Amino acid sequence: MYCKKMTLSKWLWLGLMASLFANSASPSIGTADEFNYDETKVPDYELPDPLVTVDGRAVKDADTWRSRRRPELLDLFESQVYGRRPPEPKELTFDVAESRPEYLHGKGVRKDVKVFEPGPDGPKQLLKFTLFVPRESERPVPAFVGVHLFDTASDNPLPGNLLQEDVGEPLPGEKLLDVILDRGYAIATLNPDDFCPDDKQTFRQGVLEHYYPERSGPPGAEEPGAIAVWAWGLSRALDYMQQDPQIDANRVAVIGHSRRGKTALWAGAEDQRFALVISNDSGCGGAALSRRRFGETVARINNVFPHWFCDNFNQYNDREGELPIDQHELVALIAPRPVYVASAQEDGWADPKGEFLAAAAAEPVYRLFDRQGLGTDEQPPLNKSVGEYIGYHIRSGKHALTDYDWLKYLDFADKHIGPAQAN
Ligand code: GCU
Repeated sequence: MYCKKMTLSKWLWLGLMASLFANSASPSIGTADEFNYDETKVPDYELPDPLVTVDGRAVKDADTWRSRRRPELLDLFESQVYGRRPPEPKELTFDVAESRPEYLHGKGVRKDVKVFEPGPDGPKQLLKFTLFVPRESERPVPAFVGVHLFDTASDNPLPGNLLQEDVGEPLPGEKLLDVILDRGYAIATLNPDDFCPDDKQTFRQGVLEHYYPERSGPPGAEEPGAIAVWAWGLSRALDYMQQDPQIDANRVAVIGHSRRGKTALWAGAEDQRFALVISNDSGCGGAALSRRRFGETVARINNVFPHWFCDNFNQYNDREGELPIDQHELVALIAPRPVYVASAQEDGWADPKGEFLAAAAAEPVYRLFDRQGLGTDEQPPLNKSVGEYIGYHIRSGKHALTDYDWLKYLDFADKHIGPAQAN
């Protein structure tokens, strides 16, 4: 009897302590089910105007955008969200191993590229990546580049996933990689494990420990998080492409899914050499508006992925209204270059509507350049692509980069940077 009583009170006590601890130590780490997916519960918010400077002046022309507002916004995203990127290397050397793998049916050449920076102790390898180039092309080709576009360790790499459901457009080829090469594009992929692992304990291994050997722990106030380092790595792949005669480096699209979609947007915002930017289901910290607090929130992403953003971003945990920017301005930083934002219907965590609204709210900046962006304020029906310089679709199905998405990106790329667009 005595024993039973003790056990019961012990459990009650432990339960109370556990709930107190859960509430105080990590108020925003919950399961995905505990977040808001109800449109009627989205808080009222006002988006910062991309065309008004911090000191309140209206931006009325493309020159003022370029010389004042764009640098100001870029600085805010660097200091408050992603952190300042590592230094741009002054000189790089490359080591390229070329092969003609069987699985490409003679269509392409695979290049495994290592990127080195000269140093006092000899060249230091910064990162490596894998590039596939269509074999038959006589002229330099446009290219896609992204983080983890496919598994480079596999003998049979397939960018993207196979479609999980039929949305009316079967893949016009055996494999997506064949289709991409057939349509005249090269494609390159980087693996974070090679230069900035996606892990809160080890993300400093590689580029960060090379440039900042004295630093440790999570990113400091304005220090680069992993997203900034991955974006920096994408720029290094573009450095390589600029001197590869088979690639037209003026027609390179940066692309990514989910955390790599956030990375593609940030890479494209910072490095204007990217001619086209594609964000697939990038969600919070990507294309989705933070102020909507729909699905994943700023607090949740900072708590669960403390190595992705700079420490200053934590100031906005549960205080999104105090952010001096919102993610529509990240999309706007890509203007006047083409950008494509895509969502998936069953991907509430990434807030498909917030992704669409961010794309739509970037439109006024494209208009400054006399370019039509989305050209609509209404989210299109499922599986329909819209837009001129800002493309958008919402696909049926789940959080994934599918063949369907790729076919839309290839069409959009054809329009802006494709083989037929060569000078
Ligand atoms: C998690 C994370 C998202 C991210 C996603 C992914 O779900 O919360 O922000 O986009 O992982 O990268 O797959």
